[in-house]
Amino acid sequence: MTTPILITGASSGLGAEMARQLAARGHDLALCARRTERLEELRAEILDAHPDRRVELRALDVTDGDAVHTVFRDFAETFGRLDRIVVNAGIGQGAPLGTGRPDANRETAMTNFVGALAQLEAAMEVFRAQGGGHLVMVSSMSAMRGMPGSMATYAATKAGVAHLVEGLRAELHGKPGYDFTVLYPGYIASEMNEGVEAARNKLMVSTEKGVAAMVSAIERKRDSACVPALPWAPLSVVLRHAPMPVFRRLI
Ligand SMILES: NC(=O)c1ccc[n+]([C@@H]2O[C@H](COP(=O)([O-])OP(=O)(O)OC[C@H]3O[C@@H](n4cnc5c(N)ncnc54)[C@H](OP(=O)(O)O)[C@@H]3O)[C@@H](O)[C@H]2O)c1
Repeated sequence: MTTPILITGASSGLGAEMARQLAARGHDLALCARRTERLEELRAEILDAHPDRRVELRALDVTDGDAVHTVFRDFAETFGRLDRIVVNAGIGQGAPLGTGRPDANRETAMTNFVGALAQLEAAMEVFRAQGGGHLVMVSSMSAMRGMPGSMATYAATKAGVAHLVEGLRAELHGKPGYDFTVLYPGYIASEMNEGVEAARNKLMVSTEKGVAAMVSAIERKRDSACVPALPWAPLSVVLRHAPMPVFRRLI
Protein backbone atom coordinates (compact mmCIF):
# COMPACT_ATOMS: atom_id res chain seq x y z
CA MET A 1 0.00 0.00 0.00
CA THR A 2 1.33 3.44 -0.88
CA THR A 3 1.39 6.11 1.79
CA PRO A 4 0.83 9.69 0.64
CA ILE A 5 3.40 12.09 2.09
CA LEU A 6 3.11 15.87 2.04
CA ILE A 7 6.41 17.79 1.89
CA THR A 8 6.61 21.59 2.07
CA GLY A 9 9.59 23.41 0.58
CA ALA A 10 9.95 20.63 -2.00
CA SER A 11 11.28 22.83 -4.82
CA SER A 12 14.96 22.54 -3.85
CA GLY A 13 17.54 21.18 -1.44
CA LEU A 14 16.47 18.78 1.28
CA GLY A 15 12.77 18.87 0.39
CA ALA A 16 13.35 17.93 -3.26
CA GLU A 17 15.79 15.17 -2.34
CA MET A 18 13.42 13.78 0.33
CA ALA A 19 10.79 13.62 -2.41
CA ARG A 20 13.15 11.68 -4.71
CA GLN A 21 14.24 9.23 -2.01
CA LEU A 22 10.74 8.69 -0.57
CA ALA A 23 9.34 8.09 -4.07
CA ALA A 24 12.06 5.48 -4.60
CA ARG A 25 10.84 3.78 -1.42
CA GLY A 26 7.32 3.54 -2.85
CA HIS A 27 5.52 6.57 -1.43
CA ASP A 28 3.14 8.89 -3.25
CA LEU A 29 3.83 12.59 -2.85
CA ALA A 30 2.01 15.88 -2.23
CA LEU A 31 4.60 18.57 -2.93
CA CYS A 32 4.39 22.32 -2.46
CA ALA A 33 6.55 25.46 -2.61
CA ARG A 34 6.38 28.90 -4.26
CA ARG A 35 8.51 27.98 -7.32
CA THR A 36 6.07 25.73 -9.14
CA GLU A 37 8.25 25.38 -12.24
CA ARG A 38 10.83 23.64 -10.03
CA LEU A 39 8.10 21.36 -8.70
CA GLU A 40 7.03 20.50 -12.25
CA GLU A 41 10.61 19.55 -13.15
CA LEU A 42 10.91 17.43 -10.01
CA ARG A 43 7.63 15.64 -10.72
CA ALA A 44 8.77 14.83 -14.27
CA GLU A 45 12.06 13.46 -12.93
CA ILE A 46 10.34 11.32 -10.27
CA LEU A 47 7.71 9.93 -12.66
CA ASP A 48 10.40 9.16 -15.21
CA ALA A 49 12.21 7.02 -12.62
CA HIS A 50 9.05 5.65 -10.94
CA PRO A 51 6.09 5.72 -13.37
CA ASP A 52 3.74 4.09 -10.82
CA ARG A 53 4.09 6.89 -8.29
CA ARG A 54 1.47 9.60 -7.89
CA VAL A 55 2.84 13.14 -7.44
CA GLU A 56 0.48 16.09 -6.84
CA LEU A 57 1.72 19.69 -6.80
CA ARG A 58 0.41 22.96 -5.34
CA ALA A 59 1.83 26.47 -5.15
CA LEU A 60 2.19 27.52 -1.51
CA ASP A 61 3.74 30.38 0.41
CA VAL A 62 3.85 29.15 4.02
CA THR A 63 3.66 32.71 5.35
CA ASP A 64 0.05 32.82 4.07
CA GLY A 65 -1.75 30.98 6.87
CA ASP A 66 -5.07 30.69 5.05
CA ALA A 67 -3.34 29.24 1.98
CA VAL A 68 -1.55 26.65 4.15
CA HIS A 69 -4.90 25.37 5.45
CA THR A 70 -6.45 25.40 1.97
CA VAL A 71 -3.57 23.49 0.37
CA PHE A 72 -3.24 20.89 3.15
CA ARG A 73 -7.02 20.23 3.12
CA ASP A 74 -6.99 20.04 -0.68
CA PHE A 75 -4.14 17.51 -0.68
CA ALA A 76 -5.93 15.42 2.00
CA GLU A 77 -9.11 15.36 -0.10
CA THR A 78 -7.18 14.59 -3.30
CA PHE A 79 -5.41 11.56 -1.78
CA GLY A 80 -8.19 10.56 0.64
CA ARG A 81 -5.69 10.82 3.54
CA LEU A 82 -2.17 12.05 4.33
CA ASP A 83 -0.12 9.51 6.28
CA ARG A 84 2.87 11.78 6.82
CA ILE A 85 3.46 15.53 6.67
CA VAL A 86 7.01 16.90 6.53
CA VAL A 87 7.29 20.53 7.67
CA ASN A 88 10.44 21.48 5.80
CA ALA A 89 10.06 24.93 4.16
CA GLY A 90 12.51 27.41 5.61
CA ILE A 91 14.97 30.23 4.99
CA GLY A 92 18.31 30.98 6.55
CA GLN A 93 18.76 34.72 6.38
CA GLY A 94 19.57 36.88 9.39
CA ALA A 95 21.69 39.64 10.89
CA PRO A 96 23.00 40.37 14.40
CA LEU A 97 20.17 41.88 16.45
CA GLY A 98 20.24 45.68 16.55
CA THR A 99 22.36 46.13 13.43
CA GLY A 100 19.72 47.62 11.18
CA ARG A 101 18.36 44.51 9.46
CA PRO A 102 15.17 43.72 11.37
CA ASP A 103 13.57 42.88 8.02
CA ALA A 104 15.89 39.88 7.53
CA ASN A 105 15.31 38.52 11.02
CA ARG A 106 11.58 39.13 10.83
CA GLU A 107 11.30 37.30 7.50
CA THR A 108 13.11 34.31 8.94
CA ALA A 109 10.84 34.35 12.00
CA MET A 110 7.71 34.62 9.86
CA THR A 111 8.73 31.80 7.50
CA ASN A 112 10.42 29.39 9.88
CA PHE A 113 8.29 29.83 13.00
CA VAL A 114 4.96 31.45 12.15
CA GLY A 115 4.84 29.57 8.83
CA ALA A 116 5.67 26.29 10.59
CA LEU A 117 3.00 27.00 13.20
CA ALA A 118 0.42 27.38 10.41
CA GLN A 119 1.63 24.09 8.90
CA LEU A 120 1.29 22.34 12.27
CA GLU A 121 -2.23 23.72 12.73
CA ALA A 122 -3.22 22.51 9.26
CA ALA A 123 -1.43 19.15 9.62
CA MET A 124 -2.99 18.40 12.99
CA GLU A 125 -6.42 19.32 11.66
CA VAL A 126 -5.95 16.68 8.93
CA PHE A 127 -4.52 14.10 11.37
CA ARG A 128 -7.24 14.63 13.99
CA ALA A 129 -9.93 14.26 11.31
CA GLN A 130 -8.46 10.98 10.00
CA GLY A 131 -7.46 9.64 13.44
CA GLY A 132 -3.68 9.85 13.21
CA GLY A 133 -0.60 10.50 11.13
CA HIS A 134 3.15 11.00 11.26
CA LEU A 135 4.37 14.56 11.68
CA VAL A 136 7.99 15.30 10.73
CA MET A 137 9.59 18.63 11.65
CA VAL A 138 12.84 19.75 10.03
CA SER A 139 14.56 21.69 12.81
CA SER A 140 18.35 22.24 12.82
CA MET A 141 21.48 21.56 14.87
CA SER A 142 21.39 25.28 15.59
CA ALA A 143 18.39 24.60 17.84
CA MET A 144 20.70 23.02 20.41
CA ARG A 145 21.70 26.35 21.94
CA GLY A 146 21.23 30.10 21.49
CA MET A 147 23.46 31.07 18.56
CA PRO A 148 25.38 34.33 18.16
CA GLY A 149 25.13 37.02 15.50
CA SER A 150 23.34 36.37 12.24
CA MET A 151 22.30 32.88 13.42
CA ALA A 152 20.40 34.11 16.52
CA THR A 153 16.92 34.42 15.02
CA TYR A 154 17.26 31.35 12.80
CA ALA A 155 18.38 29.21 15.76
CA ALA A 156 15.51 30.53 17.90
CA THR A 157 12.96 29.62 15.21
CA LYS A 158 14.38 26.11 14.97
CA ALA A 159 14.30 25.65 18.76
CA GLY A 160 10.73 26.99 18.74
CA VAL A 161 9.43 24.57 16.11
CA ALA A 162 11.09 21.62 17.86
CA HIS A 163 9.31 22.62 21.09
CA LEU A 164 5.97 22.83 19.30
CA VAL A 165 6.34 19.23 18.16
CA GLU A 166 7.55 18.08 21.59
CA GLY A 167 4.38 19.68 22.99
CA LEU A 168 2.25 17.71 20.54
CA ARG A 169 4.14 14.53 21.43
CA ALA A 170 3.36 15.11 25.12
CA GLU A 171 -0.27 15.96 24.38
CA LEU A 172 -0.89 12.81 22.31
CA HIS A 173 1.35 10.47 24.31
CA GLY A 174 -0.22 7.00 24.45
CA LYS A 175 -2.76 7.78 21.74
CA PRO A 176 -2.37 5.17 18.97
CA GLY A 177 -1.80 6.35 15.41
CA TYR A 178 0.11 9.56 16.14
CA ASP A 179 3.88 9.75 15.59
CA PHE A 180 6.24 12.71 15.82
CA THR A 181 9.77 13.02 14.47
CA VAL A 182 12.05 16.03 14.96
CA LEU A 183 15.08 16.11 12.65
CA TYR A 184 18.16 18.14 13.54
CA PRO A 185 20.24 18.40 10.34
CA GLY A 186 23.87 19.48 10.47
CA TYR A 187 25.44 20.97 7.34
CA ILE A 188 23.87 19.38 4.26
CA ALA A 189 24.56 20.86 0.81
CA SER A 190 21.59 22.89 -0.47
CA GLU A 191 20.80 26.31 -1.88
CA MET A 192 20.46 27.64 1.68
CA ASN A 193 24.08 27.07 2.64
CA GLU A 194 25.81 27.77 -0.67
CA GLY A 195 27.38 30.81 1.03
CA VAL A 196 28.62 29.06 4.17
CA GLU A 197 32.30 29.77 4.62
CA ALA A 198 34.90 27.20 3.63
CA ALA A 199 35.89 26.27 7.19
CA ARG A 200 32.47 24.90 7.91
CA ASN A 201 32.36 23.03 4.63
CA LYS A 202 34.60 20.42 6.24
CA LEU A 203 31.48 19.21 8.03
CA MET A 204 29.21 19.58 4.99
CA VAL A 205 27.87 16.38 3.41
CA SER A 206 26.22 15.96 0.02
CA THR A 207 22.48 16.46 -0.31
CA GLU A 208 22.05 12.77 -1.14
CA LYS A 209 23.98 11.52 1.90
CA GLY A 210 22.41 13.99 4.34
CA VAL A 211 18.89 13.31 3.10
CA ALA A 212 19.46 9.53 3.20
CA ALA A 213 20.04 9.92 6.95
CA MET A 214 16.89 12.06 7.23
CA VAL A 215 14.77 9.56 5.28
CA SER A 216 16.07 6.64 7.33
CA ALA A 217 15.09 8.42 10.57
CA ILE A 218 11.68 9.30 9.10
CA GLU A 219 10.93 5.77 7.91
CA ARG A 220 11.94 4.37 11.30
CA LYS A 221 9.69 6.97 12.95
CA ARG A 222 12.50 8.05 15.26
CA ASP A 223 11.34 10.53 17.94
CA SER A 224 14.30 12.73 17.10
CA ALA A 225 17.55 12.43 15.18
CA CYS A 226 20.66 14.50 14.54
CA VAL A 227 21.43 13.91 10.85
CA PRO A 228 23.84 12.60 9.76
CA ALA A 229 24.42 10.96 13.17
CA LEU A 230 28.19 11.49 12.84
CA PRO A 231 29.48 13.93 13.82
CA TRP A 232 26.23 15.62 14.84
CA ALA A 233 24.85 13.34 17.59
CA PRO A 234 27.99 13.64 19.77
CA LEU A 235 28.42 17.29 18.76
CA SER A 236 24.89 18.03 19.97
CA VAL A 237 25.98 17.17 23.51
CA VAL A 238 29.04 19.41 23.20
CA LEU A 239 26.95 22.26 21.78
CA ARG A 240 24.45 22.05 24.63
CA HIS A 241 26.89 21.73 27.51
CA ALA A 242 30.20 23.33 26.52
CA PRO A 243 31.28 26.26 28.73
CA MET A 244 30.85 29.57 26.89
CA PRO A 245 34.55 30.09 25.99
CA VAL A 246 34.64 26.62 24.41
CA PHE A 247 31.28 27.16 22.71
CA ARG A 248 32.47 30.45 21.21
CA ARG A 249 35.58 28.82 19.78
CA LEU A 250 33.36 26.20 18.11
CA ILE A 251 30.82 28.62 16.63
N1 LIG B 1 20.83 22.44 4.44
C1 LIG B 1 21.20 22.43 5.71
O1 LIG B 1 22.38 22.28 6.03
C2 LIG B 1 20.15 22.58 6.77
C3 LIG B 1 20.56 22.41 8.10
C4 LIG B 1 19.61 22.51 9.10
C5 LIG B 1 18.28 22.73 8.78
N2 LIG B 1 17.92 22.90 7.49
C6 LIG B 1 16.50 23.15 7.19
O2 LIG B 1 16.08 22.34 6.10
C7 LIG B 1 14.97 22.96 5.47
C8 LIG B 1 15.20 22.95 3.97
O3 LIG B 1 16.28 23.82 3.67
P1 LIG B 1 17.32 23.55 2.49
O4 LIG B 1 18.66 23.45 3.10
O5 LIG B 1 16.84 22.46 1.64
O6 LIG B 1 17.29 24.95 1.74
P2 LIG B 1 16.78 25.38 0.29
O7 LIG B 1 17.43 24.55 -0.76
O8 LIG B 1 16.95 26.85 0.24
O9 LIG B 1 15.23 24.99 0.30
C9 LIG B 1 14.29 25.73 1.05
C10 LIG B 1 12.91 25.32 0.60
O10 LIG B 1 11.95 26.05 1.39
C11 LIG B 1 11.03 26.66 0.52
N3 LIG B 1 10.54 27.93 1.07
C12 LIG B 1 11.24 28.96 1.55
N4 LIG B 1 10.43 29.96 1.91
C13 LIG B 1 9.16 29.52 1.66
C14 LIG B 1 7.86 30.11 1.78
N5 LIG B 1 7.69 31.36 2.27
N6 LIG B 1 6.79 29.38 1.42
C15 LIG B 1 6.95 28.13 0.92
N7 LIG B 1 8.13 27.51 0.77
C16 LIG B 1 9.23 28.23 1.12
C17 LIG B 1 11.76 26.89 -0.80
O11 LIG B 1 10.83 26.88 -1.87
P3 LIG B 1 10.37 28.17 -2.72
O12 LIG B 1 11.46 29.19 -2.63
O13 LIG B 1 10.15 27.61 -4.09
O14 LIG B 1 9.09 28.58 -2.07
C18 LIG B 1 12.64 25.65 -0.86
O15 LIG B 1 11.94 24.58 -1.46
C19 LIG B 1 14.85 24.36 6.07
O16 LIG B 1 13.81 24.37 7.04
C20 LIG B 1 16.20 24.57 6.74
O17 LIG B 1 16.12 25.46 7.82
C21 LIG B 1 18.82 22.82 6.47
